[in-house]
Amino acid sequence: LRLAASMAASPPRPRVMVLPFPAQGHVMPLMELSHRLVDHGFEVVFVNTDFNHARILAAGEAGETAIPAGGGIDLVSFPDGMGPDGDRTDIGKLLEGLPAAMLGGLEETIRSKKIRWVVADVSMSFVLELVPTAGVRVALFSTFSAAIFALRLHVPKMIEDGIIDETGSVKRNERIHLNPKMPAIDATELPWFSLGKSSESRRTMIQSLIKNSKAFRLAETIVCNTFREIESAALALLPIPALAIGPLEAPKSTLATGHFWAEDETCLPWLDAQAPGSVVYVAFGSLTVFDAERLQELADGLVLAGRPFLWVVRPNFADGVGEGWLDAFRRRVAGEGLVIGWAPQQRVLAHPSVACFVSHCGWNSTMEGVRHGVPFLCWPYFADQFLNQSYICDLWGTGLRISADERGIITKEEIRGKVARLLGDEEIKARALSLKRAACASVADGGSSHQDLVKLVNLLKED
Ligand code: UDX
Repeated sequence: LRLAASMAASPPRPRVMVLPFPAQGHVMPLMELSHRLVDHGFEVVFVNTDFNHARILAAGEAGETAIPAGGGIDLVSFPDGMGPDGDRTDIGKLLEGLPAAMLGGLEETIRSKKIRWVVADVSMSFVLELVPTAGVRVALFSTFSAAIFALRLHVPKMIEDGIIDETGSVKRNERIHLNPKMPAIDATELPWFSLGKSSESRRTMIQSLIKNSKAFRLAETIVCNTFREIESAALALLPIPALAIGPLEAPKSTLATGHFWAEDETCLPWLDAQAPGSVVYVAFGSLTVFDAERLQELADGLVLAGRPFLWVVRPNFADGVGEGWLDAFRRRVAGEGLVIGWAPQQRVLAHPSVACFVSHCGWNSTMEGVRHGVPFLCWPYFADQFLNQSYICDLWGTGLRISADERGIITKEEIRGKVARLLGDEEIKARALSLKRAACASVADGGSSHQDLVKLVNLLKED
């Protein structure tokens, strides 16, 4: 009887809504955070778009371990405002349609599920409109570095100074450097040009950046997948108190992992069979696309490098290149290299056989490489990746840039040469290991990221 009484008295688990921007590099870290929140006693309502929800379910069915839902995480979904064949890689277009397509459903869910707190991706900050109407409290989450966040707040000033215009086009090329302890980039490498596919959609994006920057103050904190030991200067520039809780890690649970493609785990026994510190791991995240010429140079470069390699070629990675090309390449390199469609990336980076990471420098990949002490060969493509490259090469000294020739092509000889140089550089390896130690200390009990996670948990438990 006493047991029944104490069970009846136990308070309900606090419920939090988690709202990622609908792209793999956003769903993944917010799913990782959701698992941390479940560990701390929360129930999570995780919101996807209908389109991505269907992909995650399909990936879960295709993979043997990725059962898509459960374990305290309730997956719900809403339309994204695009037609069935809409181009969902046009970020400007997506941003335009999302608020009208989602706000009504979000408000209804918040009311019906009695949700007090929303953890919303910075790119979904239109949800701040619900603060006065639905009485929710919002914590923003940045899937990018704190430095990118600081840079986006700087957009109105860059327009005022005539460096860019309202469509994001560069008027005067200048190197932007907000603080000596932060990375620098040329105005031509600013994140936004590449994301909108037309000047109209870039204008929408810049307008939404400016509008959101003003609305940010309605949020109660900004949570970043970073750690104070590498980004204290950038964190200090944010407009409201920031919490640095990274590097986040893949959940131990195989429930609700949020992958858009099924992980191919055959690479793990393959890695087991390679010598320690020998494998070149090559992966460009979820959005980068290569044309036939670049693909061929990379393929030839990996062969020329003369090391075992593991290369992720997503189903939509190679533009205009058929399965036949890939099959022929697989036959050509059998025994030397493995080509797969989607890797369990964090387990790959943690594997002792991996020597270096040829990466597009997406922030998640950057944090994962840092966490596992892996040196980078940086091959940025768009968005925040040039700034991340500057962190890796200029501030941390844990990687090398790869350079294009006068035609803009990264040649096979360049790839061979840079892989050899990177793997022969003991100082880069030592710095990567020391950064790994700092990252691990930050997430361990009592470390800076652990302390900030506890602060976040306490905040989300407030009424
Ligand atoms: C996008 C932007 O490109 C990136 O710059 C931004 O920081 C976040 O949004 P994406 O290009 O997909 O992300 O790159 P990244 O940030 O590296 O995220 C990719 C995620 O997919 C990582 O968590 C990585 O572990 C995972 N991944 C990648 C896999 O699980 N398997 C793979 O084979 C490749």
